[in-house]
Amino acid sequence: MAFLSDTLARVKPSPTIAVTNKARELKEAGRDVIGLGAGEPDFDTPENIKAAAVAAIAAGKTKYTAVDGIPELKKAICAKFKRENGLDYTPAQITVGTGGKQVLYNALVATLNPGDEVIIPAPYWVSYPDMVLLAGGTPVFVEGKMEAGYKITAADLEAAITPKTKWVIFNSPSNPSGAAYGRDELKAITDVLMRHPHVWVMSDDMYEHLVFGGFEFVTPAQVEPGLYDRTLTCNGVSKAYAMTGWRIGYAGGPEALIKAIGKVQSQSTSNPCSISQYAAVEALNGPQDYIGESRVAFERRRDLVVAALNACPGITCPTPEGAFYVYPSIAGLIGKTSKAGVTITDDEIFANALLEEAGVAVVFGAAFGLSPAFRISYATSDAALTEACARIKAFCEGLK
Ligand SMILES: Cc1ncc(COP(=O)(O)O)c(C=O)c1O
Repeated sequence: MAFLSDTLARVKPSPTIAVTNKARELKEAGRDVIGLGAGEPDFDTPENIKAAAVAAIAAGKTKYTAVDGIPELKKAICAKFKRENGLDYTPAQITVGTGGKQVLYNALVATLNPGDEVIIPAPYWVSYPDMVLLAGGTPVFVEGKMEAGYKITAADLEAAITPKTKWVIFNSPSNPSGAAYGRDELKAITDVLMRHPHVWVMSDDMYEHLVFGGFEFVTPAQVEPGLYDRTLTCNGVSKAYAMTGWRIGYAGGPEALIKAIGKVQSQSTSNPCSISQYAAVEALNGPQDYIGESRVAFERRRDLVVAALNACPGITCPTPEGAFYVYPSIAGLIGKTSKAGVTITDDEIFANALLEEAGVAVVFGAAFGLSPAFRISYATSDAALTEACARIKAFCEGLK
């Protein structure tokens, strides 16, 4: 009898974490490596949020809480959904988990039966397919081509829907491409979903606040109120308030689904960290200055990186609407050979050669389901980005 489960055998470890670890190991061994793999803001958590956590500790808020969130936080989340997305949710329609990751995972565990299909637009966040597999479902991919700004079309979505489709996971702005759907683009997608009432929508709005150049963020239940009863609107404080380590994510949706998610959580991790929940109340209810300030910094870095990458021979980098990632194509480099004699036959070989020969850590496109490409996280200093892009350019110029 095998010790490890058959389900686990279908799942691979997170490639983004693997790249981050490899870059760290090389650095520890004394190599000069610039890491552009990690998907977290390089800014510190705002002081008012930290102070709220300290106050929570001092006040003894250090015990178990309600499994899916303290009432104060659910109230703050309802206010956020109303204020920023025009969505009406009651506290009974809100669930809070240990990061957005747990909320998404629990929702899949709570709803998927063997054979159920989940549509995932590619390039996708690395965890979606494996979460679906762990929960017993079947991922179905729909490719968003580079020429279309890495966005899927309504026709592509329609073609992927079958009687077995349970969810479509929608992520705008996207990790890894930074692509975000405008109101009209999203309406075309939601129009398709209105024709298929058995399909539910999991909208991962984690990068909501990181949109540039006056772009208007919209979420499916807002654009098409007819989808409200079968949409789980997911969000969190990790990216919006530089709180990745605090582990607070949340979602709003139909009460029965929210109860089911809470049931999974009650028998696995119980409540998310009590102190982090009080900090999240302050994040959502307190001053919102950090959001605007980080957006300005990220937009400047996006422009810096896109311009520098497009100056690299063989690389084509579209300008994304949001998040803190770019997803350049390396189609123009395939078949070339590096100074160390490595022939670039795919994007994983490219990323390894770039790390070994140029000391820049990026994540290869195959990890996100769309090749040949790579992802850069520009959530790091302007100086590090400028140096990294200069190294990438020198590497590309050295290819024969
Ligand atoms: C698209 C997307 N969704 C969800 C998450 C999870 O965020 P967290 O669990 O930190 O709230 C991430 C984190 O990288 C992400 O990129």
